[in-house]
Amino acid sequence: MKAVAAFLLVLYLAVSHAWKCKEAPRLYGVQQIDAGLGQVVVATRHGRPYQLSGKYWYSLGTFSLTHVTVGPAGTWGCDRSNKVYKFVAGNWKQINGESLHQVDAGGDGQVVGVATSNYSCCLKDHVACSFYGKGSVSWIALAKKVKYISCGKKYGCWAVNTLNQIFVTKNIVPSTCAIESWTNVRGPKMTMIEVSGDGKVFGVGTNGKVYQRTGITKSNRAGKRWVTIPMCMPISHLTYDLHHLWVVTTSGWLLQCTH
Ligand SMILES: *[C@@H]1O[C@H](CO)[C@@H](O)[C@H](O)[C@H]1NC(C)=O
Repeated sequence: MKAVAAFLLVLYLAVSHAWKCKEAPRLYGVQQIDAGLGQVVVATRHGRPYQLSGKYWYSLGTFSLTHVTVGPAGTWGCDRSNKVYKFVAGNWKQINGESLHQVDAGGDGQVVGVATSNYSCCLKDHVACSFYGKGSVSWIALAKKVKYISCGKKYGCWAVNTLNQIFVTKNIVPSTCAIESWTNVRGPKMTMIEVSGDGKVFGVGTNGKVYQRTGITKSNRAGKRWVTIPMCMPISHLTYDLHHLWVVTTSGWLLQCTH
């Protein structure tokens, strides 16, 4: 009887902690998404950047971009030829110095990205935040070859390499881009990984499943284990901000999940 009660309690907790997903405001062919500071930006398969306002998506600037990101450093993106842009005065301004496949503005003012050499790099917070379209900047190499990188305001940065292995650096200094050494985190093979502003970590497996890293604390920044978040369709991209998990299905649908 006790065992049954305990089982029912566990079941109840599991269900009450489950994520509930619904279709997000519809946009055709979403490929990539990033949310930060309450804002949500996406890039479509056709290379168009959009921002969500209420129930509608609004085109963001007049350039074609394949990857966009929003966070404390502003709104950033890169295009098909790996040129990097920051959103300034209502449109995209190109930033020189490095060609990037992917960029992330979710850190504490610094911007990180993956160069075409596959090396990760970083732009110091004061440089990233004050860039307005003029002048040259220098990116700092983070001495790690990766294919996807993301930082939060808390608890460092996470990355996956081209072998789909997961790495964490427990600390990054926004004013210098100095990091602690990268540590390999065991887990499923992943294609991308995102850290939210508050340090939560979610990733997409090569199998299309969604995983959350649990047990991350100030003193254990690598966390404890991977928990699968069940989804009804295979997922290709995701982001998390302020209790909202946004997932892109491999067929380009966008779902919005809360729990
Ligand atoms: C970067 O990684 C990709 C695999 O994801 C590989 O095809 C490409 O050759 C690498 N580029 C360099 C410059 O190492």
